[in-house]
Amino acid sequence: MNLGIIGCGAIGSDVAKAADEMEEIERIYLYDINKKASNKLLKTLKKAEIQRVEDFLKHVDVVFEGASQDAVREYAEKILKAGKDLIIMSVGSLFDDKFRKKLEKLAKENKCKVYIPTGAICGIDGILSANVGGLNEVTLVTTKPPSSFGLSLDERRVLFEGSAREAVKKFPANINVAASLSLAGKGFDETKVEIVADPVVSRISHKILAHGKFGRLRVELENMPNPNNPGSSYMASLSAIATIRRIIEPIKIGV
Ligand SMILES: NC(=O)c1ccc[n+]([C@@H]2O[C@H](COP(=O)([O-])OP(=O)(O)OC[C@H]3O[C@@H](n4cnc5c(N)ncnc54)[C@H](O)[C@@H]3O)[C@@H](O)[C@H]2O)c1
Repeated sequence: MNLGIIGCGAIGSDVAKAADEMEEIERIYLYDINKKASNKLLKTLKKAEIQRVEDFLKHVDVVFEGASQDAVREYAEKILKAGKDLIIMSVGSLFDDKFRKKLEKLAKENKCKVYIPTGAICGIDGILSANVGGLNEVTLVTTKPPSSFGLSLDERRVLFEGSAREAVKKFPANINVAASLSLAGKGFDETKVEIVADPVVSRISHKILAHGKFGRLRVELENMPNPNNPGSSYMASLSAIATIRRIIEPIKIGV
């Protein structure tokens, strides 16, 4: 399998280095708008080269996006029209219902897939299964140190309570986890989000609470930062690499 990578930052670099060690991956094609980022990554890899996305599309089987929402808007349609599978990390781009439906249609027409890694949360498997039987309520509680919001607080404060769609407008930094959860379950308008600043915590945590016909679910993840980008959760990189392994492996575990 040949892999294209758009975005050679924290997550793209972790994915490229892991893919470089996978015997099932023959060639890796890198692209970043910042040439320094792609050149720096290239030096650490054995089977990679730098090419424009339009040029590497004919060589790859799967494209990994770890860049930005703009990159998804710029390249997703081209990738799917070329019949190539696409892994999207900048899931916030899929909040736009019209855009998401367009990608869905293109993927069907061109017989390819869009993969959305679980990312910096856990429990998406449970939400996907529970949704089959019917979910009554899904809530995401994201807790961060007050400094993450530019605040200095002595006690816990709830900064936001509302739908995932509203949360994204007010707190765009929380966009990816809210988007993945909404897409897996009750959608952007019915998924509830609570955003909390808490001086007791030193890490970003995401808690999912859900109930439905299946019973009750409660999952909490406390994220360590990515060693190469303190603003990115390390779990997001691990989830991206696990998604590539899942595409490769003949036995697919979970959901
Ligand atoms: N799904 C999740 O849970 C989750 C978690 C963390 C990050 N993310 C998202 O994943 C993406 C990557 O995160 P990161 O921590 O690696 O970021 P990063 O800033 O470390 O790296 C992003 C890289 O992409 C490049 N880039 C930006 N726009 C581009 C474009 N249009 N074309 C080509 N290259 C472009 C930048 O130059 C940079 O090198 C971000 O959009 C981030 O919001 C998702």
